[in-house]
Amino acid sequence: MIIGVLKEIKDNENRVAAIPATVETLASRGHTVLVQKGAGSGSGIGDQAFQSAGAKIVAAARQIYKSAELILKVKEPLPQEYPLLRPGQILFAYLHLAADRGLTDALLARKIVGVAYETIETADGRLPLLEPMSEVAGRMAVHVAATYLAKPLGGRGVLLDGVPGVPPATVVILGGGIVGYNAARVAAGAGAWVYLLETNPVRMRYLDEVLPENVTTLMSSRMSVESCLRRADVLIGAVLVPGAKAPRLVTRDMLKLMQPGAVIVDVAVDQGGCCETSRPTTHSNPTYVVDGVVHYCVTNMPGAYARTSTFALTNVTTPYAAQIADRGWLTAARENAEIAKGLNVVLGHVTNQPVALAHRLRYVPWTKVAA
Ligand SMILES: NC(=O)c1ccc[n+]([C@@H]2O[C@H](COP(=O)([O-])OP(=O)(O)OC[C@H]3O[C@@H](n4cnc5c(N)ncnc54)[C@H](O)[C@@H]3O)[C@@H](O)[C@H]2O)c1
Repeated sequence: MIIGVLKEIKDNENRVAAIPATVETLASRGHTVLVQKGAGSGSGIGDQAFQSAGAKIVAAARQIYKSAELILKVKEPLPQEYPLLRPGQILFAYLHLAADRGLTDALLARKIVGVAYETIETADGRLPLLEPMSEVAGRMAVHVAATYLAKPLGGRGVLLDGVPGVPPATVVILGGGIVGYNAARVAAGAGAWVYLLETNPVRMRYLDEVLPENVTTLMSSRMSVESCLRRADVLIGAVLVPGAKAPRLVTRDMLKLMQPGAVIVDVAVDQGGCCETSRPTTHSNPTYVVDGVVHYCVTNMPGAYARTSTFALTNVTTPYAAQIADRGWLTAARENAEIAKGLNVVLGHVTNQPVALAHRLRYVPWTKVAA
């Protein structure tokens, strides 16, 4: 199969959908890999590295769209790319179609086979292509909080780790999923006092078992959140209720319980945030202050660490890309239910129920399209 790796053109998107190891894996299985010139530059990967791994470097995106049967991207195509898509082409990327009618219509009209990273799902309900970005965001949340605790940046002037004779910061984490677990690990590793609030008792038992002694797990309730807010130097929002907006656990009133100069990193802001006062921010203007509390609410946190994120993402996407390339989308979906879950649009039909529901379009199971 001819596989194309494009340079991302979305604002400030520095990740790339393949690394040289991806190219080597695909090329060694007999596929031709075209990589757009400069595709890896934002992640510190030069054209030469791709070439040495067996890729052909191609100058223009147009050429790749023209010849590739499988397009590997990180983010969805932008409107200027829609006319370049060809019928039957397979697109493997984050698509988030439920939130984008224009893109959905374009992929339907162009009869694309759209395999969305975010809906690839394992039998036990995990979303393996979202997990690495939550790992990056969770770990990063603690670094960000430690930075903004500095007095010149509006923080309380508390050093996260403390020093001999002076206690460390208290870090409160709402939600003990992938983001919460990773944040707790890093905060605890730095020596902070960590409170991790969860609602799922099974998950809480696991967290209690695997995290160090300086992490206390608590059942999340309005009362436990309030009591934690009083002592928090840092609050990390990491809750998720699948398919819903993030639950609002911290209201504007509750903010007054926090110390001036405390820092909120609301990682869940991409789902609306778990604090009433959270609103989306960007890497170029990441924070604002409400009632003396610093808010950091960047919606694409992993973008700041593009190189780590690229490697983390391609570690998990490459095996799926290889299966799709080896077997074609139809056989790959028949043989691997995880890939079948990723099929959002197939040759002019919406094959993902939530996407169809979001846009009031007809849902057609992929097996019916394929039949
Ligand atoms: N801002 C970013 O750049 C960025 C990056 C990655 C992930 N995220 C977001 O971070 C959020 C968390 O992602 P995740 O991968 O950790 O999800 P996850 O599903 O692994 O974990 C969410 C956890 O929240 C818990 N929870 C639900 N309601 C709760 C409540 N009321 N109190 C306490 N805990 C509660 C759940 O039981 C679950 O364990 C998501 O909204 C995700 O989209 C944002």
